[in-house]
Amino acid sequence: MTKLLAVSANASELSFGRAVGKVFVESYKAAHPTHQVTEVNLFDIYVPELDSRMMSAMADLSSGGNFDDIAPEVQKALIASGALLQQFLDHDKYLFITPLWNSCFPARFKSYLDTLCVSGKTFTYTDDGYPRGLVEAGRKVVHIHASGGYIKTISQADAVLREVMNLIGVREIETLFIQGHGQKPDLADQIKEIATKRAIEMAKVF
Ligand SMILES: Cc1cc2nc3c(=O)[nH]c(=O)nc-3n(C[C@H](O)[C@H](O)[C@H](O)COP(=O)(O)O)c2cc1C
Repeated sequence: MTKLLAVSANASELSFGRAVGKVFVESYKAAHPTHQVTEVNLFDIYVPELDSRMMSAMADLSSGGNFDDIAPEVQKALIASGALLQQFLDHDKYLFITPLWNSCFPARFKSYLDTLCVSGKTFTYTDDGYPRGLVEAGRKVVHIHASGGYIKTISQADAVLREVMNLIGVREIETLFIQGHGQKPDLADQIKEIATKRAIEMAKVF
């Protein structure tokens, strides 16, 4: 069965991205009634960070260390990290909903992406030193990204997400930018409406 994982990285109830993401999910469900949809808000769950204790536990384990010798709170972080990766691998399509915060997405979303990058499991290196993704081919992503201003050149947030997805082998990525409502508040309703219509259409064919 095809499975969509919708991951939101925003706690705000007033979020443009979440509102448009909700419509995307509704449209997706209507167009794909037999598909399974899982929705996660990263601000409602524990997303471990790659802190120094996590890093050293991971190094210990990869050099043959015993999981039982790791401190309980670090074990908890490793288990949570592994569960997020497994959830990702158990799905085929991904909807990521992020806001632009100070020129990038929230740090929690980066921590989430870190859980997906596991050498030997989701990527490896070729003999000539280049990274190669290991996730099954055919997976795809829609990124809904909301910003108050207009993104003039490249979106750092979208670029980082694309880079990480490419690293693990997910190549089909489409982005729906919702931008400018902070810069032009009088256009806010119109900006949201245009994005909502686009989300409905994108979800139908995703
Ligand atoms: C902490 C914070 C930082 C922000 N930084 C930026 C920024 O760097 N550039 C920008 O255009 N808008 C910025 N904004 C405005 C948000 O991008 C805008 O409100 C956007 O709609 C957030 O997504 P959301 O509506 O889905 O919550 C920021 C907002 C917050 C709360």
